[in-house]
Amino acid sequence: MERRPLVAANWKMYKTVAEAVDTAHRMCQRIAADAVAEVMVAPTFVSLAGVGDAIRGSNIVLGAQNMHWEKEGAFTGEVSAAMLQSVGCRYVILGHSERRQFFGETDQSIHRKIVSAFQAGLVPVFCIGETEAERDSPQTFAVLERQLGGGLGQLNDEEIQSLVIAYEPVWAIGTGKTASNDQIQEVHAFLRRYLADQYNNALAKSIRILYGGSVKPGNATQILALPDVDGALVGGASLDAESFARIVESCPG
Ligand code: PGA
Repeated sequence: MERRPLVAANWKMYKTVAEAVDTAHRMCQRIAADAVAEVMVAPTFVSLAGVGDAIRGSNIVLGAQNMHWEKEGAFTGEVSAAMLQSVGCRYVILGHSERRQFFGETDQSIHRKIVSAFQAGLVPVFCIGETEAERDSPQTFAVLERQLGGGLGQLNDEEIQSLVIAYEPVWAIGTGKTASNDQIQEVHAFLRRYLADQYNNALAKSIRILYGGSVKPGNATQILALPDVDGALVGGASLDAESFARIVESCPG
């Protein structure tokens, strides 16, 4: 089954609204309308509307970096899935390691968010990945199984098939240390086998699994060519329109 690559920009807590809108305009000018990859940009909440306007009519789609699982209520400082949907988001990044590490997110809370995202018609980009200590122990595969199992919970096959998984080894995020091609392919193949065992072959073959962690124009071609890699989640190198466009162009045609 054909899996269209997704190249996603995670701008984290960078850029004012004006800077975000400006970068979004540059990305629209720079990224070809007929790019092989689907392209998503996830600015901060305050820039979603402005960036949404800037990318309207282009082939770039909007994503958010987080959301709350409840539909609405007395949850000061939080944003719901329906709110993201109302501002034009198609995707929402959930379970990013920085949210797990600094904001106490657990497999259970991430699962609730994934369920709510689907209810609002958003596509979750569900992040998983081991820390350096977990890789060294070695517990990489046990950790990934736990994160996947906990996050996906009792979702049905159709939902699981339509979400996007992002494998991001924590030790490779923002560190300049990219996992080797062998390490990336080994994990992606493992994830696909796990999904085939737990669910079914068709689901495992059609689900998109992105790699994230220090993806840059200089290493993107090799990473994106790996057989089980279906795109990239890009942090640092997505802040600049030119470098992000070069990563988008690195997808094999
Ligand atoms: P990085 O971040 O590309 O800066 O390593 C990736 C991510 O956190 O999604």
